[in-house]
Amino acid sequence: MGRKDDTDSIRRKAGLATPMALRVAVTLELPDRLLGDGASVDELAVELTVAPVALELLLGHLATLGVVERTATGYRTTEYGANLCADANNGLTDLLHLDAAGGRAEMAFIELAHSIATGQAAYPRRYGQDFWADLAEYPHLRESFDRQMVHRFREQIPQIVAGFDWSRFSAIVDVGGGQGSVLAAILTAHPRMHGHLVELKPTATQARCTFSAHNLDERTHVTASSFFDPLPAGAEAYLLVDILHDWDDEHAHRILSRCVEAAHPAGRVLVIEPVGGLRAASEFNLAMLVMYGGRERQIAEFRALASPHGLVLDTVTDLTDQRCLLEFKLAADQ
Ligand SMILES: C[S@@+](CC[C@H](N)C(=O)[O-])C[C@H]1O[C@@H](n2cnc3c(N)ncnc32)[C@H](O)[C@@H]1O
Repeated sequence: MGRKDDTDSIRRKAGLATPMALRVAVTLELPDRLLGDGASVDELAVELTVAPVALELLLGHLATLGVVERTATGYRTTEYGANLCADANNGLTDLLHLDAAGGRAEMAFIELAHSIATGQAAYPRRYGQDFWADLAEYPHLRESFDRQMVHRFREQIPQIVAGFDWSRFSAIVDVGGGQGSVLAAILTAHPRMHGHLVELKPTATQARCTFSAHNLDERTHVTASSFFDPLPAGAEAYLLVDILHDWDDEHAHRILSRCVEAAHPAGRVLVIEPVGGLRAASEFNLAMLVMYGGRERQIAEFRALASPHGLVLDTVTDLTDQRCLLEFKLAADQ
């Protein structure tokens, strides 16, 4: 009997019908369309220009999952299913919508075998170019990715600000700083500190708006450029928040080398990430591989990555239940 339970459990974990049904439901906005009294399958099929019989099969499975329920005339969204509505403000639609950056990127898991065989990202194999090139080409993917990035840190930023002694630095460069929400929070808590954010367009433009909204125009600079190019020079700290795990070793070396060549001799490189073996979830670790050819490196791997650049790991701080801060100093600054 135990074996049968195991088999069932494995089948449930491996089945693709449920994850795909949820993703297609979000992409067709079914939870939004079926709020309130709901709709009949035929009405909905006409509205969406989809096949009614197939739509009924999808709704049937969504009913099994508790996302919708049957009514006398069709289906309506349940309270549970309302979590999948666009305005639920829980980040789920950007993660699941097949034409949002996150939802689209997860579909690269179909090519996981390629990543395992080669150690490389699956995303370019599926979509013909890498994730960042797609974001540059399709503004709606960039918008949804930036939204996802801001959302993921909503609850963690206070811990990031409180969990480390940022007051030691008078100037920080946030390398690949996204829309600037982390740097804005650090600077707001430390009124004498200055910040310089480096990001690709159009996210860099949004970072300027974030800083203005926090009355930080006087203490911030934003440079719209690549972190593979020279970085603003002379700062005491170069911050990399969820950057290195997006890249294979070759690219991670290039980023670190830009930080070190720009840093003040007593400067620090601060890496905030889910460190492998400490704070990284195995599922997320695989996602980094499939999407970017990256991974959640372990402490020893970070040391090995940093060492050729003259960087020595000084401290490891637990910041949140998901992320650590690794502080590297330059070997010359002993
Ligand atoms: C995972 S996000 C993290 C963003 C931000 N540090 C945060 O924690 O919210 C990675 C960021 O790296 C940026 N990025 C990717 N390639 C870049 C490049 N070549 N130069 C500068 N930024 C880049 C992306 O635009 C994205 O905002």
